[in-house]
This record gives sequence, structure tokens and C-alpha cells, in this order.
Amino acid sequence: MLDQLKTLQSTALTELAHIGDDAALETWRVTHLGKKSAIQGVFDGMKNLTKEERPLVGKAANEARQALQVAFDEKAAALKEAALQRALQTDRLDVTLPGRPLAVGGLHPITQTMRHIYAIFAEMGFQVYRSREVETDEYNFQLLNFPPNHPAREMQDSFYIQSDTDRGDNPIILRTHTSPGQIRSMREYSGYDGGDTLPENPPPVRIILPGMCYRFEPITTRSNIQFTQVEGLAVGKNITLGDLKGTLSDFARRIFGQQVRTRFRAHHFPFTEPSAEMDIECFVCNGAGCTVCKRTGWLEILGSGMVHPVVLRNGGYDPNIYSGFAFGMGPERITMLRHKIEDIRYFWANDLRFLEQF
Ligand code: DAH
Repeated sequence: MLDQLKTLQSTALTELAHIGDDAALETWRVTHLGKKSAIQGVFDGMKNLTKEERPLVGKAANEARQALQVAFDEKAAALKEAALQRALQTDRLDVTLPGRPLAVGGLHPITQTMRHIYAIFAEMGFQVYRSREVETDEYNFQLLNFPPNHPAREMQDSFYIQSDTDRGDNPIILRTHTSPGQIRSMREYSGYDGGDTLPENPPPVRIILPGMCYRFEPITTRSNIQFTQVEGLAVGKNITLGDLKGTLSDFARRIFGQQVRTRFRAHHFPFTEPSAEMDIECFVCNGAGCTVCKRTGWLEILGSGMVHPVVLRNGGYDPNIYSGFAFGMGPERITMLRHKIEDIRYFWANDLRFLEQF
């Protein structure tokens, strides 16, 4: 039995010496160390041995198994090392070369301004409401009190999505401003379907409507065919022009600095009455007059007004019970003023020399 173990061990070791790959090594392990191996057979046969033989054979078998295990581990390590050496030879890599730095991304300056605006209005209790960019003439104009052929449409020439004339006065267009979101959001809040009866007790609205707008216009340093707006809408009971002025003046102080002065100038928008534009005191010259404010001392920041009764009604809010204010601003313009950027086209030129400055 003891001789048998010796032979077993030496044949296994000779075989092992010739092995050169992992698959063969695994086969060897199963044959010589596995559950059906000859050594395991010796252990299994112990019960048939005499009392005297048992410890001797047990010891020898254990030693043989241990020797095979050690040899196996060494072989496995050697194969691994050989594979590594081979890989190092074939995939030569100069680890002394300096690494390539990872490019760090950044937020587009307009995104930064928009997020700043969201944060300020969020603190005042306004939620962000996302509305569609592809609109109908009805929502973009008619429900906002611009009838077909109204002269105020002159300011907002659209991109038409469908050329078919079947839709008559209601073609599909890219929205020219975020204001159609006023109707969409009021209708969602109130549940109004556009019919004859207005819903009872519709909930109050406090939202901002950010997003991309499109106008068919010549591209210049001050206007582009694509730009962002942030619209705001507050509807409820007893909302007054004082609420509008307070909210927007506070907004101006939060975004431009606590000392900034504001003024409201009467204006006209079809969907608000009365309407006003808000100016802030020019922060470049502190109101003295310079080229940025065209010597007026003031910079126009946004349009605003009390929501027109027709618009409230189109959204499902009875104008005899509810009132509201709305405003709309252009993040491009605000960003240009804050950073003294002279050409709006930089925002879309994708020039890293420009973008990396923010
Ligand atoms: N929709 C207007 C525009 O694009 C901006 C505007 C003005 C929005 C006054 C408003 C508002 O909500 O009250 O020119």
C-alpha cells in the first residue's frame, strides 16, 4: 500500500511537470486530487485495513496528498506568472508616460441661469411646469387673446410643422413663447375642457414654465431663431398688481443683488391687462448711463401683467372670482447682461473657448 502511494505520487508529479495550460491543470487536479482520485480511493479503503496498518497508511496518504496539493499550487502560480509575462511581452505599455487628464464637463451658461431662476422661484413656492414645444396656433395665440391676423402676431413669426392647409386657422407650429403653457397648466389644474361650464373651486396656481422657444426671425447679435424663456403664472383669489410687483422686485434683488432698484413701465401684451415691462437699474453704471443701458440707466428684464380675463376664462378660471399675474423673461438676455456677452450667437456656436469661461 505504501509503495503504491509512492508510485502514485511520483507519476502524478511527472505528469504535472509536463502541463503547460490551465485546462490541462484542471484535468490533472480532478484526476489526482478530486473525489474519484486514487488517493481518495486509499482513504476510502482505510476501513478494510488492520489496526496496525491504518495509522501508517493514513499518515503516508495524507503526506502524499499534501505534496500533490503543494505542487499543484506552485504549478498554478507558475502558469499565472507565465501568462502575465506573455501579456507584458505582447501588450507592451509604457507606464512611465504621463496620463491623459479627464476632461471635466460643465453646465452651459444658460442652464446655469435657468437653474438659478428655478431656485429663486422655488423658494417663493413656485413649481416647475413643463409644457410642450410643438404647439397649435390655438394655444400659442388664440386662447392667449391673439385672434387670427391680430397685429401683435407680427412680433412672433412661427415655424410651421405641417404644410397641409386642412387645419385652417389652427396650424401646428413651434411655440414662439412659453405663454401657451399658461393655458395648458390652468386647464390641467382646473380640469376645464374648453366647454361652456367653468369648473367650481379650481385650485390656485403657482408655477414657472421654462423651455425652448422658436421664432422665424433674422439671426442677429441680439436675436436668434431658438432661445429659452422662463414664464411665471400665479392664479388664485385676491391676487393683485402689488403681488406682481413684490414678487418680481424680490426676484430681481435675489438674482442681481440686494441693492438693485426696479421700475415698471406700462406696455401691451394681448394676454395681460394691465401689462408692464420691468427694468432694473443698470448695474454697469449704477444708473448714470453707459453703452450697456444705452445711456438710459435702466435695463429691460422681463414682460409681465395681470392675467387677462379672457385668458383666465380660457384656462377654466372665472375672472369674476379669480385673478392672477404672469411674467416672461429671457435667460439669454439675463446671462448676456450679467456677463457682458455681446453676441447671442455664442450660446449656440459650441465654441469651448467661450463655454469654458462659465
Ligand atoms: N410671451 C411674451 C413674449 O414672448 C413674454 C411675456 C410678457 C410673458 C408678459 C408673460 C407676460 O407671461 O405677462 O414676448
